[in-house]
Amino acid sequence: MDTRQVAEETETLARVKGETGGDLVLRRVGAHYEIYSNGVFLMDTRDGTSEREMVRASLAALPRGRSRARVLIGGLGVGFSAREALDDPRVSLVEVVELEPHVIAWHDGELGEAAGYVHREPRCRVHNDDIVAWTQAAAGRSQRYDAICLDTDNGPDWTVTEANDRLYRPAGLDLLGGLLAPGGVLAFWSANAVDSFEELLRERFARVDVIEVTVARGVPDTVYLAREP
Ligand SMILES: C[S@@+](CC[C@H](N)C(=O)[O-])C[C@H]1O[C@@H](n2cnc3c(N)ncnc32)[C@H](O)[C@@H]1O
Repeated sequence: MDTRQVAEETETLARVKGETGGDLVLRRVGAHYEIYSNGVFLMDTRDGTSEREMVRASLAALPRGRSRARVLIGGLGVGFSAREALDDPRVSLVEVVELEPHVIAWHDGELGEAAGYVHREPRCRVHNDDIVAWTQAAAGRSQRYDAICLDTDNGPDWTVTEANDRLYRPAGLDLLGGLLAPGGVLAFWSANAVDSFEELLRERFARVDVIEVTVARGVPDTVYLAREP
């Protein structure tokens, strides 16, 4: 039998109302799990290469000798980015802000295994909040992070909610830049390169790197790193 022609068994494990008003769905496809919001694919457990690269590259770009680094991650998803941060011994705190309480709850079950139950790690705090609101409040508290890694959307030109647009606009970028500790790094994940967004970053940050991560099919995932606001 040609196994390539056998469809993987698919099961909808949960369909709940999401914070954005539409359906939030957890599906199992074979041995993997997928999350959808309003019918739009959000994340799955198959391959976290670019989600991990966003964090790895950010931490690699920190000034030499930086220790006790504090990392802020926007979007828990299946936890690959949070796991990458926790795997770095220089990191003392990983704060993950996740909009959907169900996504967080699924880490006690099906989603937990993919990234090793990140929410149970002593150096990790998972907050159920909106990253836009969280960063605004953090600015008010004069909080600072060594790395801020944002992966809440398919990219600057395809956000999961209109409200998330604010993360990628000039005022949002200025606010995020202000949350960086000296030498800190701001990173964004995108499913494709967005030239206008790169330009906006270059207008506001002295150092911008664009990293392309090859994917199995289609255009490479893109990670933007911005330093020195
Ligand atoms: C693509 S997934 C994140 C993938 C993650 N980097 C990983 O390694 O699995 C996007 C996540 O961001 C969350 N999200 C979307 N908008 C958000 C917001 N405004 N604040 C916080 N989380 C948000 C979604 O619910 C989803 O869990």
